[in-house]
Amino acid sequence: MAGGSKTGRIEATLIPGDGIGPEIVEAMNIVLDALGSPFLWDVQQGGLAAIETTGDPLPQATLDSIRRTRLALKGPLTTPVGGGFRSVNVRLRETFHLYANIRPVRTIVPGGRYDDIDLVLIRENLEGLYVGFEHYVPIGDDPHGVAIASAVNTKAGARRILKFAFDYALQNGRKKVTVVHKANVLKAVTGIFLEVGREVAKDYEGRVAMDDRIVDACAMQLVLNPWQFDVLVTTNLFGDILSDLMAGLIGGLGLAPGANIGESAAIFEAVHGSAPDIAGKGVANPIALLLAAGLMLDHVGRQDLAARLRGAIDRTVNVDKIRTGDLGGTASTHAFAAAVAKRV
Ligand code: NAI
Ligand code: MG
Repeated sequence: MAGGSKTGRIEATLIPGDGIGPEIVEAMNIVLDALGSPFLWDVQQGGLAAIETTGDPLPQATLDSIRRTRLALKGPLTTPVGGGFRSVNVRLRETFHLYANIRPVRTIVPGGRYDDIDLVLIRENLEGLYVGFEHYVPIGDDPHGVAIASAVNTKAGARRILKFAFDYALQNGRKKVTVVHKANVLKAVTGIFLEVGREVAKDYEGRVAMDDRIVDACAMQLVLNPWQFDVLVTTNLFGDILSDLMAGLIGGLGLAPGANIGESAAIFEAVHGSAPDIAGKGVANPIALLLAAGLMLDHVGRQDLAARLRGAIDRTVNVDKIRTGDLGGTASTHAFAAAVAKRV
């Protein structure tokens, strides 16, 4: 945990990012100023914006800033699909050993497909297929004739994330951790995760319950009856997929925040991307980034401010009925932020 006192300012790195990033970061600043946030931003570049000015999507100055502050809030970064540079998000996770990705999903707008959703997905963030051990083997004159990838899961990595999930459950008053895997088919590479899960669960017996699910069945059950779950913990790729599914349960990516936690730094972000289709139009929903700032306030021990922030978002959306287009409203990003600022 980063240190935070009731009066002290806390220096933190801010990366506005690409696409709708600068717009939702501006909205976030309006709200956090009104809230009296303790964060003192060191604004740094990342993503396409950084390539244009420095030639590197993750410039040294940005890395140095995070190394110093150990705390960052980032807007979405555009990553080319297939070729092009390696995902900046993955590089950040690796550089700062951000092994735990926490993605809470909570109903904010009642009356959607599902009500009263309150789930947390904890995703292993460094191992599995995302280690990037992949290559092509040319066949004849096709350079992409065969693609080969290796997944790497370690007992140490599994133990670290599983302990994190159970501790998270304890600290946040949660009752159950579901370990998600595919140990019936990927017996070694995901079996190891379940094996360690059963071991770790023993240390929490009587305090936090444990069960497990095979990932495909889990996906179906999340859609049929999400209320049976509480905290879910899983390997990198499954976590990536299930967390987007879970964001869908509460009405989409515009409402889902994420935290990337490691021993030497913590980086907070919205789960959604740079939304190039609506960038520059002033219509993006800033709630996910605001909730990410809320997780960051929790992280530095300012749960009081985080609770006020979440309450203000809730009242703006549900009492004032001020919403952006993705939630069926007509408010601009700026108008929505101004309304939340009034409520905090
Ligand atoms: P996306 O999340 O940017 O957009 C998907 C859909 O959701 C779009 O229709 C978009 O308009 C909408 N949407 C997303 N955020 C919204 C918001 N705050 N308010 C209203 N609508 C919103 O996903 P997409 O299009 O697959 O990716 C675009 C770029 O973002 C890609 O380059 C991708 O690599 C990058 N990306 C970056 C992430 C990050 O930096 N953490 C995470 C996911 C994608
Ligand atoms: Mg993803």
